[in-house]
Amino acid sequence: MPTRVRDLMSSPPVTCDADASLAAAAQQMNEAAIGSVIVTDRTKVAGILTERDLLRAGAAGAQPAVEPVHLWMTANPDALGPDEDASAAWASLSHHHYRHLPVVEDGAVVGVVSMRDLFGVALLRPAAESAAEVPRGLEGVVVAETAIGDVRGLEGFYHYRQYSAVELAATRTLEDVWYLLFNGSLPDRPQAAEFIEMLTSRRSIPEGLTSLLPALSARGRPLDVLRSAVSVLGAELGWEPTHDIDQATLRDQALGLCAAVPTILAAAHRLRVGLEPVSPRPDLTHAANYLWMLLGTEPAPEQARAIEQYLMLTIDHGFNSSTFTARVITSTGADLAAAVCGAIGALSGPLHGGAPSRALDMLDAIGTPERAEPWLREAVARGDRIMGFGHRVYKTEDPRSRFLAGVAESLGGSMVCFATEVERSAVAVLGDLKAGRRLYTNVEFYAGVVMETCGIPREMFTPTFAAGRTIGWATHILEQAADNRLIRPTARYVGPPPPEAVPSL
Ligand code: ACO
Repeated sequence: MPTRVRDLMSSPPVTCDADASLAAAAQQMNEAAIGSVIVTDRTKVAGILTERDLLRAGAAGAQPAVEPVHLWMTANPDALGPDEDASAAWASLSHHHYRHLPVVEDGAVVGVVSMRDLFGVALLRPAAESAAEVPRGLEGVVVAETAIGDVRGLEGFYHYRQYSAVELAATRTLEDVWYLLFNGSLPDRPQAAEFIEMLTSRRSIPEGLTSLLPALSARGRPLDVLRSAVSVLGAELGWEPTHDIDQATLRDQALGLCAAVPTILAAAHRLRVGLEPVSPRPDLTHAANYLWMLLGTEPAPEQARAIEQYLMLTIDHGFNSSTFTARVITSTGADLAAAVCGAIGALSGPLHGGAPSRALDMLDAIGTPERAEPWLREAVARGDRIMGFGHRVYKTEDPRSRFLAGVAESLGGSMVCFATEVERSAVAVLGDLKAGRRLYTNVEFYAGVVMETCGIPREMFTPTFAAGRTIGWATHILEQAADNRLIRPTARYVGPPPPEAVPSL
């Protein structure tokens, strides 16, 4: 039998008249050792007076012997029925931060439910609603529903819509996956051709942005330039808050943004190293065109495909920090540029997207296979993080890492053999010094190897990650905007107890 309000309420309730004095009501509370009285008009509930109200009255200098209760009570409070489920009492008390609620039957007050009553009933409070039990970093906490994809960390599996992401990367094109994310299904050939035409026509960036890029690139790293450039792009194209536009308009903006990001990034890099930007080519795939604009030469097909597969593998990955950031910003009704700028900021951190170049810097620092084990052992003993290892969700091998290791092997080159040896040592060292933490390579480790082998400069590793992930962010922004509710959680206050009098100077 579920617990009912009737089973846990205090009854009969302590009541007083609305014209009774505060002092009389306080005495009633004191005598009954309770924190509230129900204020009645005959048998009907007119209000509730709580200890908190008495404190307010005291702080305001009220005269308890003469001031009537009705001046300080909460009038017409929410009430519960005696046959409601006890969880309704919990929901109402916790949601409104009430401590007491009257229980009313047939119009007459029959009892009071307090927080204390609820705490007296074991296991009433659902674990998911307890702020105290929310893990640090929100690990494992479900914060939304999504039809875009998911990550199953224990199985080492993730998917876009209903398809394995790794299988998509092995068998389809980036444009197909992009279509899948934006439209919910894979395209047939005519649909794919039409989609590609739409994308290629949007690769150029507006003159207002082009003219600003030299100044931005002279000062910032390419990811910083992208963050600023997305803001400018939104302003140039007149993007309105998502709150004020329909899905079709937002989708159109999102397509344009995702198509333009590689152009911005490639130009930012080239300007930074003193080269002229290269215009986009409509005859190349999204990935090949990116390499063309970045390096100024048409990439070999296997290199274009390797980068395409990397981008496909990293388009989306559950509620990672940058995606969550994009959704939080969208939930406020802000515009597309604002959401993507925030996501870029989140991605830039080394605990998220800023790791692949650091992983390669580590390979350089290690230098030779024999040095790997002592180098790694020393680093972990010092408390350093081994870049490209460990993951919040995967407690087994990251499937992206295995796939990219294969891509790196097929590209060849000396770096992949060395990386494999370092991986072996790192897994052993971490298994030894961080026993039980289940730390394996994440996507970043072999991503760096693949990108370096394809000629992408290290500085462009995280920006390249951003180029693909923008498509994932945009998909989440569309989903959030389509069925929006402001994301606004609560924190547990753990500072000195308030209110403390503000000291005078
Ligand atoms: N090297 C050494 N120790 C590690 C590593 C690592 N790479 N990763 C986790 N640990 C250890 C921590 O020191 C901690 O040990 P402790 O229990 O003795 O304190 C334990 O494992 C758990 O670590 P957390 O920080 O709680 O794990 P979290 O889930 O927050 O970490 C993260 C995930 C941030 C990716 C972490 O593994 C890390 O810092 N990795 C290195 C950076 C990196 O590769 N980032 C790219 C991530 S992939 C992506 O975002 C696309």
